[in-house]
Amino acid sequence: MVPHDDIVGRREGEEVSSSAGGRLLILRPRLADFILKMPRGAQVVYPKDIGPILVWADIAPGLTVLEAGTGSGALTIALTRAVGPQGRVVSVERRADHAEHAEKMIRRWFGEVPAQLDLKVGEVEEIMEGEQPDRIVLDLPEPWHAVEVAVRRQPGGGIFCSYLPTVPQVQTLVETLEGSGGYRQIEVFETLHRTWNVSGRSVRPDHRMVGHTGFVVVARRAG
Ligand SMILES: C[S@@+](CC[C@H](N)C(=O)[O-])C[C@H]1O[C@@H](n2cnc3c(N)ncnc32)[C@H](O)[C@@H]1O
Repeated sequence: MVPHDDIVGRREGEEVSSSAGGRLLILRPRLADFILKMPRGAQVVYPKDIGPILVWADIAPGLTVLEAGTGSGALTIALTRAVGPQGRVVSVERRADHAEHAEKMIRRWFGEVPAQLDLKVGEVEEIMEGEQPDRIVLDLPEPWHAVEVAVRRQPGGGIFCSYLPTVPQVQTLVETLEGSGGYRQIEVFETLHRTWNVSGRSVRPDHRMVGHTGFVVVARRAG
């Protein structure tokens, strides 16, 4: 056991002793640590995929991002941090229980719901009608239903990004994006994250790794 009073007021990087004599490091969790440990309502996007999504969807300070579904809020937290106080994230979730859970996780991470984050309960296709998002980031099973409204609402040069676990979903989305006439430069990729053991002369990949999470589809609004 470690009494909270032994930790409060101490600096990160200092050590604290447990009642059993163990020595523990005091560190704030990184966002990746928080996401991997946080209680889940819906399945989260894993940190290994969040990084590439932020980069390939080109999420940057000051942009307006429309996200759905909020799910457990993992990707929402990363998007909110990336757009910063000058940006805006509208995050849409159809299930009230998931939205409630996500808000709890967002408050746990930031201490509050940041001013640049607008959490909405509803259908993404309907909420998008009132927005002009620079970026659309979808982690939901049937993103192709949102393409028609995305073509009408997203400005030229905007980026549509979707995270999908299976091949038939990727195929349906890409065909829908191509058929819409509103999206070009469609790219599909997955990210394999292989950790390594570096210990003395044993320098090699770890024996186990996560084999599959999801594919990322990215397209540019054009035409
Ligand atoms: C896999 S979860 C999202 C997880 C989230 N990205 C995270 O990192 O925590 C998918 C969510 O999309 C929601 N959803 C599915 N279709 C939707 C729609 N058309 N509009 C809004 N939310 C939707 C589901 O209720 C579910 O909570």
